[in-house]
Amino acid sequence: MSLINDLSGQANVLVCGASQGIGLALCAQLLARDDVAQVWAASRQATRSDGLAALAAEHGQRLVRVDCDARDEQSLEDLARVTGATCDHLHLVISTLGILHQDGARAEKSLGQLDLSGLQASFATNTFAPVLLLKHLLPLLRKQPSTFAALSARVGSIGDNRLGGWYSYRASKAALNQLLRTASIELKRLNPASTVLTLHPGTTDTQLSQPFQANVPSDQLFEPAFAAQCIIELVGRLGPADSGSFWAWDGQPVPW
Ligand SMILES: NC(=O)c1ccc[n+]([C@@H]2O[C@H](COP(=O)([O-])OP(=O)(O)OC[C@H]3O[C@@H](n4cnc5c(N)ncnc54)[C@H](OP(=O)(O)O)[C@@H]3O)[C@@H](O)[C@H]2O)c1
Repeated sequence: MSLINDLSGQANVLVCGASQGIGLALCAQLLARDDVAQVWAASRQATRSDGLAALAAEHGQRLVRVDCDARDEQSLEDLARVTGATCDHLHLVISTLGILHQDGARAEKSLGQLDLSGLQASFATNTFAPVLLLKHLLPLLRKQPSTFAALSARVGSIGDNRLGGWYSYRASKAALNQLLRTASIELKRLNPASTVLTLHPGTTDTQLSQPFQANVPSDQLFEPAFAAQCIIELVGRLGPADSGSFWAWDGQPVPW
């Protein structure tokens, strides 16, 4: 399957949130493909990540590691400049930016555990960073075809919320979905061959989910490599006609 809809030739790909977890697994699988020319791997620890260093040793200059704090617009501007210096078009951008219990965010179980700083931390990384990433990379997404996919989470679905809890994580992902739905409408005008997607990777064994894995049956806890494979299959299958929609790892749409 082609990496993205209507791709002719090799693709330039950027993964933001690439130093570990699903982002790192995506980089490994993208670099293993013949139809991928180059991968830009961005995160705060990109140049200090052992996983990315191992990929750099294997793939040489096909992997470019960029330290970037996506909560900081200057850092995003620098990322866009560094990428744009050697590449005039990104065919695929995947944002794996997300926190649940790190960097000041909390997985609140009750209203009493909610506070402003936790809400702001969740929204800064889960909501504002991915859409500002899209804003800064937009000049590199104007040609055809291009796909921007952000990892959201099923718990961000308002229609699917039966359990409650995780206030700030749920709300920040729901707001991300709305921002990217809105962006998909603007991008359709700028580039009719663009696709904007929000994707649920499934519960995956990473640092983000570690404290919450006890009650997850082992057959429902994915390896990062499996989640990455499902995401790559989704971006290959979904094209401009699907832009602005929300999908799960198994190819099923997720209700807003
Ligand atoms: N794991 C799950 O079960 C699960 C389920 C549903 C949805 N998701 C979503 O899937 C995505 C990936 O999750 P994961 O489990 O792979 O998480 P993870 O292992 O914690 O990885 C998150 C990545 O994001 C980067 N990152 C965090 N803050 C950043 C910032 N400010 N600027 C740049 N990079 C930043 C981290 O790198 P640095 O520390 O180097 O910056 C890291 O590489 C997230 O959006 C998450 O919400 C995960």
